[in-house]
Amino acid sequence: MMASSASATSREGWAHAFQHDPGLFDAFRAAEDPEQRIVRRLAAHLALGGRSVLEIGCGTGRTTEQLCTAAGCYVALDASRVMLAVARRRVDLACAPRWLIGRAQALPLASGSVDVVLATWVLANMRPGGRALALAEIERVTRAAAGAGTWLVENHWSSELQELRGLPTDPSGSEIGSLIGEGGFTIVEEIDTEIRFASDDEAARVLGALCGPTASTALASRPRSRVAQRVVILHRPRTDSRPRSRS
Ligand SMILES: C[S@@+](CC[C@H](N)C(=O)[O-])C[C@H]1O[C@@H](n2cnc3c(N)ncnc32)[C@H](O)[C@@H]1O
Repeated sequence: MMASSASATSREGWAHAFQHDPGLFDAFRAAEDPEQRIVRRLAAHLALGGRSVLEIGCGTGRTTEQLCTAAGCYVALDASRVMLAVARRRVDLACAPRWLIGRAQALPLASGSVDVVLATWVLANMRPGGRALALAEIERVTRAAAGAGTWLVENHWSSELQELRGLPTDPSGSEIGSLIGEGGFTIVEEIDTEIRFASDDEAARVLGALCGPTASTALASRPRSRVAQRVVILHRPRTDSRPRSRS
């Protein structure tokens, strides 16, 4: 999911969907990982029992609805009002997180107020400057406590989905490298799954609109309803050594 470089993003329709067509993005998410392997593995790593959680970029709430009941306190934040509206309709039936409109680069939360920060398919897509600001903000709001830290899910650089998007399928073209290098994250697990649409036509409609012309051309020449996807779960523990930027 989502582009890993600014040039790919500009040809893709993800940002437009986030602002104007949350239903299109949600159709993608409904098809993604039908066996729910990713969120089940994430939940196993997180061991949320009773902890306070901030989810950044909650989107239409597909991850939120699976995880929020296990947390002591759950804050779900997104920069897009329309995405958050869909998430609220989905999740408020299951549990009642605190919903926030806001940007990862200026989190509207007090310092040291959460144990766990979670962001699925959000940080790798940011431009480097924005990502550095977001990581500093994440560090600021996370309390220095045993088990505290940040968990991410991002696309692996090598998968059929990345090929469809015309992105490099080697590590050097991946933003995961900067999350590991400058960001201090480690990969804790790789998961192979797939995006499974109801039909070839639905795959072409959704992936063509979100991923752009490279995907449209590939799906026209070889129609398919299933696309292989590989993701990584990344983790960075909270440490006391990093300076806090805001009080
Ligand atoms: C690819 S979607 C992922 C949604 C959700 N995490 C999921 O697993 O379905 C990325 C989401 O991040 C949000 N987003 C992008 N940049 C953001 C930022 N700087 N601060 C907060 N949210 C952001 C978008 O509005 C969008 O809802």
